[in-house]
Amino acid sequence: MNREEARQRIGQLTAEINLHNHKYYDLSMPAITDFEFDRLLEELTLLEKEFPDLADPASPTRRVGGEITKEFRQVRHTFPMLSLGNTYSEDEVRDFQARVNKLLGEETEYICELKFDGVAISLIYIDGVLVQAVTRGDGIQGDDVTTNVRTIHSIPLRLKGDTFPSRLEIRGEIILPRKSFENINLKRLAEEEEPFANPRNAASGSLKMQDSKEVARRRLDCYLYYLPGELPFPTHYDCLMAARKWGFNISSYMARCSNIEEIFSFINTMNESRHELPFDIDGIVIKVNSLQQQKELGYTAKSPRWAIAYKFKAERVLTRLLSIDYQVGRTGAVTPVANLQPVLLAGTVVKRASLHNEDIIASLDVRIGDQVYVEKGGEIIPKIVGVDLDQRPPDALTVVFARSCPECGTELLRNEGEVAHYCPNQAGCPPQIKGRLEHFISRKAMNIDSLGEGKIGILYDNKLVTDVADLYDLRSDQLLGLEKVYEAAGDKREKKISFREKTVENIIKGIRQSKETGFEHVLYAIGIRFVGETVARKLAFHFGSIDQIMKATSEELTEAEEIGEKIAGSILEFFKEPKNLEVIRRLKEQGLHFEIREEEKNLKSEKLKGMTFVVSGTFENFSRDEIKKEIEAHGGKNSGSISSKTAFVVAGENMGPEKRKKAASLSVPVISESDFLQMIAD
Ligand code: IVH
Repeated sequence: MNREEARQRIGQLTAEINLHNHKYYDLSMPAITDFEFDRLLEELTLLEKEFPDLADPASPTRRVGGEITKEFRQVRHTFPMLSLGNTYSEDEVRDFQARVNKLLGEETEYICELKFDGVAISLIYIDGVLVQAVTRGDGIQGDDVTTNVRTIHSIPLRLKGDTFPSRLEIRGEIILPRKSFENINLKRLAEEEEPFANPRNAASGSLKMQDSKEVARRRLDCYLYYLPGELPFPTHYDCLMAARKWGFNISSYMARCSNIEEIFSFINTMNESRHELPFDIDGIVIKVNSLQQQKELGYTAKSPRWAIAYKFKAERVLTRLLSIDYQVGRTGAVTPVANLQPVLLAGTVVKRASLHNEDIIASLDVRIGDQVYVEKGGEIIPKIVGVDLDQRPPDALTVVFARSCPECGTELLRNEGEVAHYCPNQAGCPPQIKGRLEHFISRKAMNIDSLGEGKIGILYDNKLVTDVADLYDLRSDQLLGLEKVYEAAGDKREKKISFREKTVENIIKGIRQSKETGFEHVLYAIGIRFVGETVARKLAFHFGSIDQIMKATSEELTEAEEIGEKIAGSILEFFKEPKNLEVIRRLKEQGLHFEIREEEKNLKSEKLKGMTFVVSGTFENFSRDEIKKEIEAHGGKNSGSISSKTAFVVAGENMGPEKRKKAASLSVPVISESDFLQMIAD
C-alpha cells in the first residue's frame, strides 16, 4: 500500500472504529461483534505502525491500550491540585456561607455538585487533543498516567467544535461504576484473587496498572468538574456547560443555589437518593459560581476559599454478631459470612455482612456475641469494621475458622501465600456442582434460558442431574410435577417454581436447541478454570477442535493468542481428570459441537462476521448479487433495508436519495465498492 492509500485507509478505519465505539459505549447498540471490531483495530494498528507519521494522536487504537508502563513519570502540575475544606454539619456550611458573604460584602450564587468518590485527575489538551493525564500525587506533582487514561471511553481524545482554548486543563474524578466494580470483583473471586474493598480502591488500583490493555477492560468512567486557568466565561457553570459541548462528561446532578435553604435541599435530596446513582459519592461540593468572585476570595495554603465539601455521614450501625456461616462458591472458595441481629442501614435491613477471610476475622478480634460496627461505605455488601469492646459479653466466643466444608464435610485447604480457604471436593460438593451447571446454561455458554438457577436447583435436588451431560438425558416424564418453594434473594416473598407441561416442554426444547451452539461456546461452557469467553474463542479457532486441544502440549497451547502458562496449566489439568473426559465423551455422543463448523471452515474469512450489509445501486466490477455473495463468503449477512442494526451500506451508482437519507439519519456509514473490496482484502 502506498502512502496516499494508507492515509485514506487510516482515515476510513478511524471513522469506522469511532462510529462503532459510539454505538457500543454511548448507545449500547453494538453493530458488529467484538471479533470483527478487533479486526478493524488490528488493521489500523498495523497501518499506524507502518506509517507512524500518519497516525492520528487521537486515534481509537489508543483506547485499547497495549502500552506497558513500567514506572509512571512524575509531572509537575501547572496549577497545584488543592484539596477542599471538609464539613460534616449544617452549621459548618452556614459558617462557610457567612465567611464568603463577609469577604465579598454581598450575597452570592453557588453551584452544588456531587462529590465523586474516586481518583482526582488533571487532563491537558493542546489544540483539542489529549496530551497528558496526571494524578493528584502530593498536589504539586503527580504521576503521568496518560496511556491508561486514554482507554477511558468517556474521556475525549479530541475535543468537539473549535471554541476551546489552545491549551486547556480540566480536572475531574476517575470513578468505577458500581456495576463494573461488582464484575471485577466477581472475576477476581473466580480467579481466587483478593477482591477490592470498594470502587475507589479499584479505580485507583486500575489507574496504576502497568498494562493499559487490562485498564481498558476495567470500564472506568470520568466526570469533570473544574477548569483551572483563565477562561473566557463569567461563571463556573458556564465553564462546565462549555466543557460539556467540547465532549466532556459533566454530571447533570447539579444545582444553582442562591440561598442556604436551596443548598440544604440539594444536599438532602442527594443524600437520600445517592444509593440510586450508579456510582459512589461521598458528599456534595459547594462552589461560588462567579469566577470574578472566586478570584476575590482566593486560596488558603491548602484549599480554595470559594468552595467547600459537605461530607455525608458514614453509614454505620452497631448490632450483635449472632453466628458465622461459611459459603462455598463455584470454584470451591469458602467465604465467612456474619449473621447479624437485623438492623436498618443505608435504607435497607442488614442481616448479613462479609467477613472476607480468616486473617480479617483475626485482625478484628471479633467474637460471637459481640456488638459489632457495621458499615456500608463504598462496598456493596456491608462489612464489619470494628467491635465495641465495652459491650463484650463475658461468654463471647472466639471464632475458630471452619475446618471442613459446610456443604460436603471435606477438609478445607488453604494454599501457602493465599488468604482463602477452599473445598477440594470438586466432584462431590453440591454448590460447586450446581455452580458448574449454572455456568453451563448461562447466556454466553450454552444459553439455555428455559433453565435458570432455581430450576437447576430442583433438578439437582431430585438427583436428575449431577453433571452437565445429565442435562441431555432428561425426559419430560421425569420433570413433570416437580416443584419447589424458595425465598428469592433480596425478596421476602416466597416464590414457587413448579414444572407444568408448558415449562417442561420449554426446558426440553431449550436443551435440544443448545446442541446447535458453536464449539467456542461449548468450550467455554464446560468450565475449564481460567478459560473465559475470549480465551475459549481464541482456543477454538486456533485449534479447530477439542481433540486437537486435548492433544496439545503446554508449548503448543501457549502458541495460541492470549494463552499464557497459567491457562495452559489449567487446561492440561482439566483433561487429566477422567471425570471430565467422561463428560466430554457423553456430550459428544449427544451431538454437541466439539469442532468449528464446516461452514465456518469454508468461509473465505470471518472479516465480516456479525455485520449486516445493505447493498444498493449498480457497481463497476460486480453485479449486486456477486457483492452479496462476497459478503456471505466473508461471514457477513445481507439485508434489504437499512436499520440501526446495519453495519454498512455498500453504495453503487444510482443509489436512491431516500436510502442515503435513512443511512445518514441512523449514522450508518455508506461505503463505495472499492471501500468494500479493501475491507475484505487480505
Ligand atoms: S473541585 C480547587 N468538585 O474532592 C478545588 N472536587 O477533597 C478543586 N472531588 O481533590 C476540586 N468531586 O478529588 C471538586 N465536584 C467536585 C468534586 C471534587 C470530588 C474531589 C477532588 C478533590 C477532593 C477534595
